[in-house]
Amino acid sequence: MKVSTIISALALTGAAVAAPGHKGKKLPTTKIANIEVVDTQLVRDAIKEVEKFIPLQPYLYNHVMRSWLFGAAAFNNNATLKATIDLEAHAIGTLLHDLGWDMRPDSPWVTKEHRFEVDGGAGALRFIQEHPCAKNEWDELRLQWVYDAIALQAISDIPEFKSIQTQWMIKSVGFEFPGPRSPLIKDEDYDSILAKYPNDYLFRGTNETFTWLAASKPETSYNTFIQDFGTAYVPGFNATGYRLFDVIQGGLQAEVAANP
Ligand SMILES: *[C@@H]1O[C@H](CO)[C@@H](O)[C@H](O)[C@H]1NC(C)=O
Ligand SMILES: *[C@@H]1O[C@H](CO)[C@@H](O)[C@H](O)[C@H]1NC(C)=O
Ligand SMILES: *[C@@H]1O[C@H](CO)[C@@H](O)[C@H](O)[C@H]1NC(C)=O
Repeated sequence: MKVSTIISALALTGAAVAAPGHKGKKLPTTKIANIEVVDTQLVRDAIKEVEKFIPLQPYLYNHVMRSWLFGAAAFNNNATLKATIDLEAHAIGTLLHDLGWDMRPDSPWVTKEHRFEVDGGAGALRFIQEHPCAKNEWDELRLQWVYDAIALQAISDIPEFKSIQTQWMIKSVGFEFPGPRSPLIKDEDYDSILAKYPNDYLFRGTNETFTWLAASKPETSYNTFIQDFGTAYVPGFNATGYRLFDVIQGGLQAEVAANP
């Protein structure tokens, strides 16, 4: 979708929703793919940021837009839940959760030394903190919800006792996984989201991205599932010696030798 289309699609509707992170302040809303979503300048600029993926990784843009919209559709379907969610933080945490997948050679997000979830979390924090609108609105807690969700996105059992805000950012991305549709989202909402942001290349794109991560920064992949992509697909990739298992085995042998 062209930037101009997004901007006109984001015209203020005048509708407003409660937002815990904004201490009761009503936030403007708009509709995207027929889903009511929060519409602040920060969210608009986050959309502009992920639109930069479109030329090289269109599947990635569609993936983050769907993740956000699936979550928003679930909230719209449950007023109790919606009243507890910080909708702007949720938008940012879902839209920016894969900054670490950015394959552009001049990516402002991807580092050599961090795994992709940490690049994404750190990138989202930087994006928020450098944004003029965020100065007075983002306290430590909101930042932590977003960082935790992005950093822990792939380790599904660890966030279980994190804030409900963090959990719903991750859960929203989880609606992308294959399997039956969730009863939390209306069928018509699934249909309108998938019509606007088709899901026809996500797993091939994921396979390409994860292999690229293993090849381009193998030292960040050891002891993560990216390691398996390296082992399977990257010539010369060898995690043996770097795995925590190997480190423990080495220590074990030394310990037994010293104290039989
Ligand atoms: C709506 O959300 C609330 C709060 O998370 C939950 O307790 C309730 O079971 C949900 N209702 C439905 C119908 O899913
Ligand atoms: C997954 O990625 C590897 C490495 O690029 C490639 O060899 C393989 O064909 C890919 N699989 C599919 C089904 O695209
Ligand atoms: C990987 O490295 C380990 C340790 O250096 C070595 O023993 C093993 O043979 C290597 N495996 C492959 C497939 O090269």
